[in-house]
Amino acid sequence: MAKDWWRQSAADIPKILVEPPGPKSRELHASTTRYFHGLSSQVKLFPVAFEEGHGITLTDVDGNKYLDFSSGIYVTSLGHSHPKVSEAVAHWAKKLMNCHDFTTPIKDALLRKMDQILPGKLRGMQFYSDGTSAVEAGIRAARAITGKHEFLSCFRDFHGKTLAAVSCAQMSRGDSLSYGPTRAPGFYMVPRPNPYRPTFTKADGTIDTDAYIRYYDEFIREGTAGNVAAFVLEPAQGWGGSIFPPDDFFPKLRKYCDEKGILLFADEVLTGMGRAGEWLCMSHWDVVPDIVTFGKSFGNGFPVTSMVVREENATVLDKISASSSYGGNPMACAAALASLEAIEEEDILENVRTVGKFFMKRMEQMKEAHPIIGDVKGKGFLLGIELVKDKKTKEPFDEAGKLVYQKAFRKGLAWIPAGHILRMSPPLIMDEKYAEMGLSMIEEAIAEVEKEHGYR
Ligand SMILES: Cc1ncc(COP(=O)(O)O)c(C=O)c1O
Repeated sequence: MAKDWWRQSAADIPKILVEPPGPKSRELHASTTRYFHGLSSQVKLFPVAFEEGHGITLTDVDGNKYLDFSSGIYVTSLGHSHPKVSEAVAHWAKKLMNCHDFTTPIKDALLRKMDQILPGKLRGMQFYSDGTSAVEAGIRAARAITGKHEFLSCFRDFHGKTLAAVSCAQMSRGDSLSYGPTRAPGFYMVPRPNPYRPTFTKADGTIDTDAYIRYYDEFIREGTAGNVAAFVLEPAQGWGGSIFPPDDFFPKLRKYCDEKGILLFADEVLTGMGRAGEWLCMSHWDVVPDIVTFGKSFGNGFPVTSMVVREENATVLDKISASSSYGGNPMACAAALASLEAIEEEDILENVRTVGKFFMKRMEQMKEAHPIIGDVKGKGFLLGIELVKDKKTKEPFDEAGKLVYQKAFRKGLAWIPAGHILRMSPPLIMDEKYAEMGLSMIEEAIAEVEKEHGYR
C-alpha cells in the first residue's frame, strides 16, 4: 500500500461551502434526535452530520470538508477508510463473519503478529468488541490470578461504561444521579501525578512521585481490606486531557506493585497501538504491565479490542469464561491484523514520533503567545492544550474551551474537546503541513476568544 494513499483527498481542505452546521446537517440532526438520545457533549455543542471520511478528512452532509483532529474518538488512527483495513474486512464479510471462538486462520495470524510486536511476556490473549468489555475481562483475570478482589484506580481516569469499568473511573454528577450507588464494593480511587496540577510536591515545588507511592501504601494499609488484586491505570489520561505522568512514575509504581504482590493493569485502549508513538505507551518507561487492554486504534474503526495477560498467567483465561459472541470474529481479526501491518509498512510509529515533536514545539510557542493557555501536553499524537482564566491561579476556563471548540470547527477542524482541556488525536499518518494547519485554526480561535473576553 502506497504510504500516501490519503493525500489526494487532502488537496482542498478545509473546504467550507456553507457555515457549519449547515442546513442539511441541522435537518438530519433534528430527525435523528427525535429517536436517538444520550449524545456526547461534543455533538451537542456542534451538531454536524457526517457522510464520508477519507484519510485525514471528514465530509459532512452539506459538502463541507474538515481536517480531522479526532480520528473518530482516537479510533481511526490510520486515517478514515484505510484501504488495507477496509479491504480486509470486506474480504471476510463475504467469506466468514462469525464462528464463535473456533480457530480461524486469520485469528491465528493476528495472534502471531501480536506476539511479534508486544513485549515478550505478554502472551495470553483474548479478543472483545469494545474497550469496556476488555477492561471487565481484565478485572476478572486479575481476581482469578491473585485470588484477591480489591482494585485501585486513579482520579480522572476513564475505563469504560460497564460496572467494573465505571467503578474504576471518574464519575460525573450525571452518572451518580442516574445509577444510584455508583462504585462497586472494593473499588477505590487515589490521585495520580499530574505535572501541571500536582497533589504532592517537594520543597522546591516540583512534583514528588515518591510521595504518591507513599500515599498508595498508606491508603492500602488504612483504607482497604489488604486484598488489592490490581492497580488499574491509563498510561496517560485520554479523556482526562492528554495528561502524562512524570517519567519516573511508572517505574516506581511497577517496583511498588512487585513488592506488594499487586498486579499492574495498564488500560491501553486509548494510548496503545501507536497513538503515543509506541505499540504500548508503557514502553516509553520500559515498564511491562501484568494485564493490558487494547482498543480504538487496534482495528482502525472496526470494533475489535483485546485483553492480554503475561504468559505465566495465560491459563487463567480458561477460568474466567473469557470468550464472547463477537470477540475474535474473522472480520475483527482481519481489521486488527491489517491495522498492525499498515503501522509497520507505512512506518507510522516513526511518523508519530517525529510529527509529535513538531506538535509539541508549536504548542509551546502558542503557550508563550497566549494568556489563556496554561499548559500544553502530550506525546506522539495524544495532545492537549489546557485553557485557564489566569496563568497564576490556573483556574480552568471551561467557557473558553467550548468557544474555541466551536470556532475552530466552523473554520474546518473536526475535533473532540469539550472541557477546558483541548484534546487532540489526529490520524497518525498526518504530516507537519496539516499539523500546522490544524494548530493554526485552533490558535486563531483562541485569539478570537481572548479578544472577546478582554485579554487583548
Ligand atoms: C482508556 C479507555 N479504556 C476503556 C474505554 C472504553 O472503550 P469503549 O468505549 O470501546 O467501551 C475507553 C473509551 O474511551 C478508554 O479511553
